[in-house]
Amino acid sequence: MSRLPIIAGNWKMNNTIKETKELLTALIPLVKDAKCEVAVCVPYTSIAAAGDLLRGTNIKLGAENIHWADKGAFTGEISADMLKELNVEYVIVGHSERRQYFGETDETVNKRAKAALSKGIKPIICVGELLNERESGKTDEVVIRQTNGAFVGIDAAELKNIVIAYEPVWAIGTGKTATSEDADKTIAVIRNAVKELYGKGAADAMRIQYGGSMNAKNVAELMAMPNIDGGLIGGASLKAEDFKNVVLYR
Ligand code: 13P
Repeated sequence: MSRLPIIAGNWKMNNTIKETKELLTALIPLVKDAKCEVAVCVPYTSIAAAGDLLRGTNIKLGAENIHWADKGAFTGEISADMLKELNVEYVIVGHSERRQYFGETDETVNKRAKAALSKGIKPIICVGELLNERESGKTDEVVIRQTNGAFVGIDAAELKNIVIAYEPVWAIGTGKTATSEDADKTIAVIRNAVKELYGKGAADAMRIQYGGSMNAKNVAELMAMPNIDGGLIGGASLKAEDFKNVVLYR
């Protein structure tokens, strides 16, 4: 089964509109011949400017979160329609920073993913264990629970529009990467959870990224693993040259 790899930047809370324009203007020509799918998930305030620059390029536009309600009294939140109007194609849901600092649960991750899908926006669903969960041997249990939780009520027909990102929380922004074998092994566990839910064909087709201190130095080794279908890149997506070196890993 060949799956088109997807490498996406997650800018997190970085880049003003001015910085967004500078970064993307530099990045666009550098990655135009990429052999994988490329996306940048940018802060809400940068989406419009990024969308203008990315139109007609091979870089897809993404957001970093989405609310589940259509509209209403949810101060500070952004709806699927608002993102759709800006031609957002991907949205990150359930990032560990949202789970840790903003009370995101498996249930809210599921609601956000469903809201995105209902408007034709593709969720990048993040799962991953904390350091203490890894150390106490709970990694598999955690990622299976998070995967099962995220997919509640999602129709099999939608699976082609979903990407999963496995991000071990202890590897994010720390310079520590999971070994490629460990990452591959846990991604295989996640793939098996998808198989239990939807069958082998669906599991084989599901794109599952690795994320956590992925950079130009380790990308080739990680991408060589059979289960790893791309990357969700934080720090190394913030400079055009760095991100190019990840995207053009082969
Ligand atoms: P870093 O690449 O900075 O470790 O961040 C990974 C991440 O959280 C991407 O979503």
